Amino acid sequence: MTLLKVENLSVNYGSIRAVREISFEVNQGEIVTLIGSNGAGKTTTMNTIAGLKELNGGKIFWNGADATAWNAKRKVKEGIVLSPEGRQVFPDFSVYDNLMLGGYHFSNEENQKTLRTVHELFPVLEKREKQMAGTLSGGEQQMLAVGRALMSQPKLLMLDEPSMGLAPLIVKEIFSLIRRIREEMGTTVLLVEQNARMALKISDRAYVLQTGRITLDGSSKELLQSEEVQKAYLGM
Ligand SMILES: Nc1ncnc2c1ncn2[C@@H]1O[C@H](COP(=O)(O)OP(=O)(O)OP(=O)(O)O)[C@@H](O)[C@H]1O
Ligand SMILES: [Mg+2]
Repeated sequence: MTLLKVENLSVNYGSIRAVREISFEVNQGEIVTLIGSNGAGKTTTMNTIAGLKELNGGKIFWNGADATAWNAKRKVKEGIVLSPEGRQVFPDFSVYDNLMLGGYHFSNEENQKTLRTVHELFPVLEKREKQMAGTLSGGEQQMLAVGRALMSQPKLLMLDEPSMGLAPLIVKEIFSLIRRIREEMGTTVLLVEQNARMALKISDRAYVLQTGRITLDGSSKELLQSEEVQKAYLGM
């Protein structure tokens, strides 16, 4: 079943055409990766799907409904949740309060239930519950950012570069957690990554974005074998 469908999406910043008529879809239960170099339009695509950036053309469908005009709040309510680039946690709030902000539109009882799942996935967030988020390590802050997104009970979790700036061991942990989130919470994932190898290893399908256009797509297995992808994104 198609959960998210993006049709001929175009997004501009003034005269800069960041995303040019791209079409792609994400099916229920899939992990789909968008790979691309710096400036390819990955963040712009995700921000637009999340309702944080206006689009200049095309349509977004959610569960078959036209979601093109939905604002960010509506998107979150419907289960479209973004964990933004650069671990945007609230530094002067505790870990616990950061998590609760993610669940603001649910009851406390409901949040305590989700919190238990989040704590199972990220035990460090329970251990450091009272610590100010700004004093967490980079990896811990990334886990908090993902944990906060999970508190919104996403149907589609969009992760913008969750591995950015993290040590290799932590990167591995984050990627294996993404798999667990799908397995244990049944969450569909749209992943943006510059770490193409790891992203392709854990995802089902992928799209390659090149200066605002999708130039290649296929199963992640296929793309890992593709000479073009190997040369441009896997450093082979
Ligand atoms: N607020 C903005 N104002 C003007 N141009 C922007 C803005 N945000 C992004 N752009 C431009 O849009 C293009 C796509 O940027 P985007 O952030 O979507 O790329 P990206 O694929 O996420 O790159 P990265 O891998 O570096 O995060 C780039 O050319 C960028 O300079
Ligand atoms: Mg980006």
